[in-house]
Amino acid sequence: MSDVAKISFGDKEIECPVVVGSEGEQGIVISKLRAETNLITVDNGFANTASSSSAITFLNGEKGILRYRGIAIEELTQQSSFIEVAYLLVYGELPTKTQLDKWESDIKQHTLIKEKMVKFFDAFPQDAHPMGVLSSASSALSTFYQELLDPKDEEAVDLAIIKMIAKLPTIAACAYKTSIDQPRVYPRNDLSYCANFFNMMFSVPSETLEIPDVVVEALNLLLILHADHEQNCSTSTVRLIGSTQANLFASISGGISALWGPLHGGANQAVMDMLTSIQADGGDVSKFVLKAKDKSSGVRLMGFGHRVYKNFDPRATILKGVCDKLLAQLGITNPLLNIARELEAAALSDEYFVKRKLYPNVDFYSGIIYSALNIPVNMFTVMFALGRLPGWISHWKELNETPTTRIGRPRQIYTGHNSRPYVPIDQRG
Ligand code: CMC
Repeated sequence: MSDVAKISFGDKEIECPVVVGSEGEQGIVISKLRAETNLITVDNGFANTASSSSAITFLNGEKGILRYRGIAIEELTQQSSFIEVAYLLVYGELPTKTQLDKWESDIKQHTLIKEKMVKFFDAFPQDAHPMGVLSSASSALSTFYQELLDPKDEEAVDLAIIKMIAKLPTIAACAYKTSIDQPRVYPRNDLSYCANFFNMMFSVPSETLEIPDVVVEALNLLLILHADHEQNCSTSTVRLIGSTQANLFASISGGISALWGPLHGGANQAVMDMLTSIQADGGDVSKFVLKAKDKSSGVRLMGFGHRVYKNFDPRATILKGVCDKLLAQLGITNPLLNIARELEAAALSDEYFVKRKLYPNVDFYSGIIYSALNIPVNMFTVMFALGRLPGWISHWKELNETPTTRIGRPRQIYTGHNSRPYVPIDQRG
């Protein structure tokens, strides 16, 4: 195997080193290309560009493989807690029992948010989208913990990580309770991470809430499945912000904003809106499939397609199975699930989707599960953010620990006006 690639342009030929990853994938290093040829590379949407090397997550889109730190998500979802997976992602190894106990206990010590910050939620409009609140509140944490902002201070970083993981569920539940004008519920450290979140979301001070194990298990699984996905848009955003040596809280806030869009994490809410509108329109999935194939309609089949997965999304496969089981266990019948199944079958047998290798992604079934757990639709993307948090953190940490990290600063091909004179306002027209 050659370890250099030759690029020739005009009468010039340059040799570019080829790097090989631990799973055999190869990449041409073009960093010297501009210096030696005056050429830059153009890659719309970074579809063919590795922004960095990373040892966190391996994804093979052709074979439908997803592993965190080398361990298959199928194994992790069956055997781990989300908090254990968070440790694995952030620190690279599964924790020992002692390490896990300490990690859990440290996180529990930091679940409260400052009272001043609790008041902060009242400043938003009642109908504020919780993703806007989550992103703002995450950034605001940097104002409360100014001693934890230096990305090169290892101790401060470890504490910032614990605070971030501990407080994001509290912030999310606080945003929800504020939006429905109910008293905010303080965290309970006798509960697990997932059970505590449910309690903060759904209990009221006047009653004790019984949280079925099946509900806690489903949330645990959902969070694990969302925990990392290598260089996806929000993680790349976190890395780009982090490359400026911005603090963890600010970097995560940017990741939350990137996740919000309907082409990324916002797709889970968009899927639910789509299924509801198909139902309201009489439930005819073929009509919707026709619309999704018509480029002029501006409509896409939400929850379908992926930049990397071209056979199946292993997360969607797990979720589809869980969805059936959970609804049966909870005794719920959701007509939207039937519409989803019909829509999936119609798309998977349609040449348009088959030819373009468009399959259900993680967002296709997750919304139906969130609904079964009583999570309101506008909180779906917040749930994704809670899950993706350890992934964002681990990438931010990896980036800061890599001595060769440089500020992220892409180039462009300029297509605007050439130099032209300034025209005074009274001569324009
Ligand atoms: N419905 C209809 N057509 C589609 C869809 C879709 N959901 N997705 C892609 N296409 C078509 C697209 O129009 C293009 O057709 P053509 O080759 O004729 O121009 C072709 O398939 C390739 O699509 P693309 O937009 O170039 O693919 P991409 O890799 O840039 O985008 C995607 C990936 C996920 C943004 C896109 O598939 C999409 O918009 N899906 C719907 C939104 C969604 O479910 N997003 C969640 C992604 S998974 C969770 C996450 O990571 O956040």
